[in-house]
Amino acid sequence: MTVTYFITGANRGVGFQLAKQISADSNNVVFATTRSLANATALKDLNRSNLHIIEYDVASPLETMKKALVDPLERYAPNGVDIIILNAGISKKAQRSILQTTEADLQEHYAVNAIGPVKVYQSLFPYWSKKVNPETAKKIIFVSSGAGFINNFYPFPTSHYGASKAALNHITRHIAFDHTSSELDHMKNSIIVPLNPGLVATDMAKEALETFDFEALGLQPITPEESASGIIKLVNGLEQKDSDTFFNYDGTKFSWTVTYFITGANRGIGFELAKQLSADSNNIVFATTRSLANATALKDLNRSNLHIIEYDVASPLETLKKALVEPLEKHAPNGVDVINQNAGIAKDSAKTILQTTEEEMKEHYTVNTIANPESAKKYIFMSSSVDLVHNYLPSLTSHYGSSKAALNFVARHVAFDHTSSDLDHIKNSIIASFNLGLVETDLTAIFLSKFKREDLPIPVSSAQESVNSILDIVQGLKERDNDPFINYDGVRPLGSLFVYISSL
Ligand SMILES: NC(=O)c1ccc[n+]([C@@H]2O[C@H](COP(=O)([O-])OP(=O)(O)OC[C@H]3O[C@@H](n4cnc5c(N)ncnc54)[C@H](OP(=O)(O)O)[C@@H]3O)[C@@H](O)[C@H]2O)c1
Repeated sequence: MTVTYFITGANRGVGFQLAKQISADSNNVVFATTRSLANATALKDLNRSNLHIIEYDVASPLETMKKALVDPLERYAPNGVDIIILNAGISKKAQRSILQTTEADLQEHYAVNAIGPVKVYQSLFPYWSKKVNPETAKKIIFVSSGAGFINNFYPFPTSHYGASKAALNHITRHIAFDHTSSELDHMKNSIIVPLNPGLVATDMAKEALETFDFEALGLQPITPEESASGIIKLVNGLEQKDSDTFFNYDGTKFSWTVTYFITGANRGIGFELAKQLSADSNNIVFATTRSLANATALKDLNRSNLHIIEYDVASPLETLKKALVEPLEKHAPNGVDVINQNAGIAKDSAKTILQTTEEEMKEHYTVNTIANPESAKKYIFMSSSVDLVHNYLPSLTSHYGSSKAALNFVARHVAFDHTSSDLDHIKNSIIASFNLGLVETDLTAIFLSKFKREDLPIPVSSAQESVNSILDIVQGLKERDNDPFINYDGVRPLGSLFVYISSL
């Protein structure tokens, strides 16, 4: 049995490459649309009997669009359509601020990039839902854009274009949602996926490529050939569990939401982090506690996006892994974005090394250092300046300080390990160690009781103040910030240390 594709905006750019590469396999039937048959010379020149060109403007009325399909689809697709790729789109003079955007710009882009795909979906639905094809699941691929992200807003002006793609992203999610309640199994199991085709050197991207230094943002333009071959590989490999996921053309996933994992979140700084992050309902927050029974403060928050996990970082690795399976598979289908390794202890550490026992050292090393690092895009270790080896802070911190020094090394090694990862999003992940400053929590209570505030070298902050400044810093971390040691106030005291090491 053949697989039948329907691709919009296929006379040039990414759409043309998709039609060309997919129709190169004579088992496929490909419908390729163009706004004007007269301008579709590249498609016609392919001269392939399995490639059918249709004049179809997504800005025209729904009835006109439906009419354009009847003859070619009844003739060449008696079993209906399997895979729809909605690629047609426009971007005109979008590099401007919202103040400079006109109503006409907004209307035009909304009509083609958001309302257009809805009408394509509506006009094709009878053909797409027609019959089960044992060769493939039913799929709809929306060629969207990272410019339409709201949570992970791209930091350059895309104005009416970005707004229309944000609307498209919502539409794709709604279509995926609509199908979950379908009575037809092949519709219920259909796969709806929006994707970003990459920064592609096409007519559309010309203006943006001339205006912005994308390289400074770590973005390299790719060719339409590369984009299309990535999209085809991705589309072929899609499974039902991938539905409602935003993909990049190279198969990597973007999250709709940002998922945080915070250890030691039942009190102190960890609790404050969980509280503040889960206040934004776009975030998914996993908050761990050693004892569910004692996690009343977390439970009292009573938030549906906050998942509490019983998790003792001193327990064996296998136990830790087991504790994650059920909650993470259920509530984090796209994985974890930011891990905040916050759990830590400091028991009776204001003493000399001579006074320190082996048991104290082992206990602190187990909790503060060995805790299991999993891969994520951002990994924040809650460390402390008492652990600086080269810039040793002259204070009594004993087994606590040494366990945090070991933790700093682990953080740097994780950053180093990721530099050679085969996965781009892990290679580009951000690993940072934080010195929280002196924060008034249970952990510092004994230490603070031994000193007068005015004798301390730095001010004492509340958990809330500390978390406010950490969140500001974490949100601003960029790829180039990988592997820093950061103070609660944003200062990076180890800058000179790194120079020192490299000049050895
Ligand atoms: N290039 C990038 O870097 C980039 C990045 C992110 C997302 N995208 C998205 O990728 C898709 C393809 O972009 P591209 O770079 O290949 O653009 P392109 O080279 O400008 O091609 C756009 C295609 O869409 C068609 N189209 C425009 N308005 C239409 C309408 N009213 N009805 C039917 N077809 C229409 C065009 O047909 P005509 O030839 O008749 O105009 C053309 O075939 C777009 O959805 C775009 O938003 C591109």
